[in-house]
Amino acid sequence: MSCKKLKMICFSPTRTTHRILDAIAEGVGAQQLEVLDMTRTDNVPESCDCADDLVIIGGPVYSGRIPLTAVERFKVLKSCGSPVVPVVVYGNRAYEDALVELSDIVTEAGFKTVAGAAFIGEHSFSTEKTPIAVSRPDEDDLGKAREFGKSLAAKLADGTLAAASVEVPGNRPYKDRSPKASASPISNDGCQLCGSCERVCPTAAISVGSLVETDPDKCIFCCACVKVCAFEARKLEVPKLLEVSQWLADNFSARREPEIFI
Ligand SMILES: Cc1cc2nc3c(=O)[nH]c(=O)nc-3n(C[C@H](O)[C@H](O)[C@H](O)COP(=O)(O)O)c2cc1C
Repeated sequence: MSCKKLKMICFSPTRTTHRILDAIAEGVGAQQLEVLDMTRTDNVPESCDCADDLVIIGGPVYSGRIPLTAVERFKVLKSCGSPVVPVVVYGNRAYEDALVELSDIVTEAGFKTVAGAAFIGEHSFSTEKTPIAVSRPDEDDLGKAREFGKSLAAKLADGTLAAASVEVPGNRPYKDRSPKASASPISNDGCQLCGSCERVCPTAAISVGSLVETDPDKCIFCCACVKVCAFEARKLEVPKLLEVSQWLADNFSARREPEIFI
């Protein structure tokens, strides 16, 4: 069976997961591609029943887990056995229990995990001073993602994908989630009030009027606002995060490569 209907589902504040999934989908080369990007609240449907030939679902790794916001949003998904490929994207440190957690989420929703992958994306906390996996995914990563998509399509065509059953790495119970740091101070020096940070915020934590206000309880530190700011005005100068960024830059600069389970 060739892939007629492919669905791509993601949560991807800084777009690295989205870019990896795009490349995998390109490799699959389905006749019909439906994209469900749940990064913004207003894009989350009340329910989503999936009856596709293949579903690819992806999210970033936050402290070795799938971010809670994504876990909540993925709860609208249901299926009666559609083959699914969970994909996690991490910032060159480790993905720990995130891939098995994502596989469990979709299994619980009625999908069947037939393959999986962990790719690397520029770390959300990466800055000029503390560079971490800068510009990942690069051409090499995207090439591997397209190749992965091609192998999925080949296995779907020869009938071996539906029968596949893949165990992805990770521990159960999953590691504990890290306690949330306080979201202040956030600096907006040089802000031009253009509103792009408000538009990309996945949790609607930012409101831009005559000044920029951030709700510390809603902020998940995804850094979408920092990466999108054309004036380099938006900075998360949270002491704990600055410390973590330095630790990551000092200890996790050795290039990691994508891992594919098929
Ligand atoms: C709060 C937070 C926690 C993170 N934790 C990890 C981690 O445990 N391991 C890691 O390698 N990368 C970690 N990252 C980096 C992201 O996984 C990485 O930047 C990913 O590419 C972001 O995906 P996105 O572009 O789809 O948002 C973390 C990022 C954030 C914002």
